[in-house]
Amino acid sequence: MKKIVVLTGAGMSAESGLKTFRESDGLWEEYNIEEVCTPEALRKKPALVLEFYNKRREQLLQASPNQGHLDLVKLEKNYDVQIITQNVDNLHEQAGSTKVLHLHGELMKARSTGDESLIYDLDKDNYTIKIGDRCEKGYQLRPHIVFFGEAVPMIEKAADICSTADILVIIGTSMNVYPAAGLLGFAPAGIPIYFIDPHPNISEKDDLDLHIIADKAGSGVAKMIDELI
Ligand code: OAD
Repeated sequence: MKKIVVLTGAGMSAESGLKTFRESDGLWEEYNIEEVCTPEALRKKPALVLEFYNKRREQLLQASPNQGHLDLVKLEKNYDVQIITQNVDNLHEQAGSTKVLHLHGELMKARSTGDESLIYDLDKDNYTIKIGDRCEKGYQLRPHIVFFGEAVPMIEKAADICSTADILVIIGTSMNVYPAAGLLGFAPAGIPIYFIDPHPNISEKDDLDLHIIADKAGSGVAKMIDELI
């Protein structure tokens, strides 16, 4: 089976009702990254950071996978599909995708601030993290999210996966955030690259076999599958 590696970003979940980050009505228009998504913010204003992510979880609990997520699952009939997502939601898993690697962490998990190996599942009945919520070793819990300025532990694994791709698909990302955006550089030379995004931020280079589908994920994934199969 050929291997399709799918790199997804916030646009993948936009039609599920979750806001993207950098569009005009995006999350970073409403919030300052430095105030909610950095280690300094967690140190200086922990309640604000925890509340920001509690709200994100509340929104995720109202959301469901969209047609784009569901169409990626269908692709597993014909291909070995490995999803690498920058998204912290679990909509790929909810849709039924079997191989999902989260680069920027997972919203529905909490982690100890004193021992990063202690990670706990959150669920719909217990989805908030508050000041005073502690791990079994007594350290405060934090969101299991990679903040700006923190290392991206999964990046090497993601680069290895990209280097074994037969086809690369990029969906709904502005390709602005590194190291995720650099994963394109690990794909074997000459493989087909599909880019699905209403405003694709990628330049046509002569050496890329680039197929741009300037459409939303909800309809664009089906168009790509029509081209592939
Ligand atoms: P951005 O907000 O930077 O980009 C969203 C992309 O989705 C844009 O290119 C839009 O054109 C596209 N888009 C919008 N609606 C779409 C739809 N219905 N279907 C397909 N595409 C659509 O989001 P990311 O590139 O994911 O990190 O941002 C990368 C990282 O920056 C995020 O993981 C997050 C953020 O700060 C952390 O929070 C750690």
